[in-house]
Amino acid sequence: MNFKIKKGIPLIDQHDKNFMYGGKFGGNFIPETLKKPIDDLTELFSKLRKDKKFLKERDFYFKNYVGAPTPFIKLQKLTDYLGGAQIYAKVVSEANGGAHKIYNATVHCLIANKAGKKFIVGDTGAGYAGKMLSMAAKKFGLKCKIFMGAKDIKRQRPNVEAMKKNGADIVPVTTGSQTLVDAVSECMRYWVANCDTTHMCVGSTVGPNIFVKICAWSTAQISRELMIQVKEEFGKVPERIKLLNCVGGGSSAMGFWNEFMDTNAEFIGIEAGGPKNSKLHAAPLTNGSKIGILHGSAQYVIQDSEGQIGRTESISAGLDYPGISSLHCFLKDAKRAKYTSASDEEALKAYQLVSKFENISPSLEPSHAFAEAIKLAPKLKSSEVIIVNSCGDSMKDKDIIRQKLGSYVR
Ligand SMILES: Cc1ncc(COP(=O)(O)O)c(C=O)c1O
Repeated sequence: MNFKIKKGIPLIDQHDKNFMYGGKFGGNFIPETLKKPIDDLTELFSKLRKDKKFLKERDFYFKNYVGAPTPFIKLQKLTDYLGGAQIYAKVVSEANGGAHKIYNATVHCLIANKAGKKFIVGDTGAGYAGKMLSMAAKKFGLKCKIFMGAKDIKRQRPNVEAMKKNGADIVPVTTGSQTLVDAVSECMRYWVANCDTTHMCVGSTVGPNIFVKICAWSTAQISRELMIQVKEEFGKVPERIKLLNCVGGGSSAMGFWNEFMDTNAEFIGIEAGGPKNSKLHAAPLTNGSKIGILHGSAQYVIQDSEGQIGRTESISAGLDYPGISSLHCFLKDAKRAKYTSASDEEALKAYQLVSKFENISPSLEPSHAFAEAIKLAPKLKSSEVIIVNSCGDSMKDKDIIRQKLGSYVR
């Protein structure tokens, strides 16, 4: 099928009556018990997103709590070193808590309050979604439970400590690969049994359609800011501009690209290629994975010949996920976005180079996007522009970086 992205209509609304994008991706593949809570949430959100008072409240917290707008800076030294295209960064890691996950968490807490729920649950991989949800829950008076894979608890210690400090109840997930995929499954299982009292925040643009929508709608703030900043810097959206973003579930990329959907900006999503010497990866779009159902949604997903969800591997806990947002599957098949991957080693090297030359210190997730910028820039003309979403701070990765590179300097 040859998809077309429709101009002038928000991407999140370009689904059919079954909530499928391009007739193939997304939907609500849910147990019967979740039908009513999902329908209720879908109705509530469709009202809230048109409610001027709610939008005013959202914008108030984006500005005064999240810290929007986050900086947009030129990476002059990196540009000079590489030659070729001009490289910029949108430093989303300057948002409260250190990553883009704060937008989705804040909006979910506001919605939970409107729904009269006192409890909120969420999943996390890199720990940022959990850290942000625990922060926002504390601010908005909600009791918070976070599901996190036991492997990720070990490798993302600083964010685990932050969650504890914020008073969240952390549930270690010891099933399967003990990473994000299992945390999302366990969180959803918990919500099935507790949805009367509890709101669920899915930490990325994955899950049943309403969670994809809320998350993409929340992170879209990033590109609203960027559009203003780009026009201030260049007078208009430049003829040749590339927006590079890492993709795990895909929330930061959706937020980074949304406002530029109807422009000529080129979108490049970078998945986790895993270790160079391993067959395992977390890059379903780059490696031609087949369509399957994961977490209530149809998507390209890493799977074995029998359709069982496959194993993944990545140095970056936030990208270490076998599936990908239905919105990205749609963008890929519509040829609106391109997807590639960077290996663990390339991401580490990119982290090292960026933090050596510039006053930013990207976490291992955006370091994958910087790796692609480093590959691309020297091949391009100086009139061309690359913008990388530096969507997370490296603090959470200090143990891994120290272990792999011998030292961690911020
Ligand atoms: C800093 C950072 N970037 C990127 C990601 C990947 O998630 P997504 O693709 O939803 O932005 C994560 C996930 O935890 C993250 O913490």
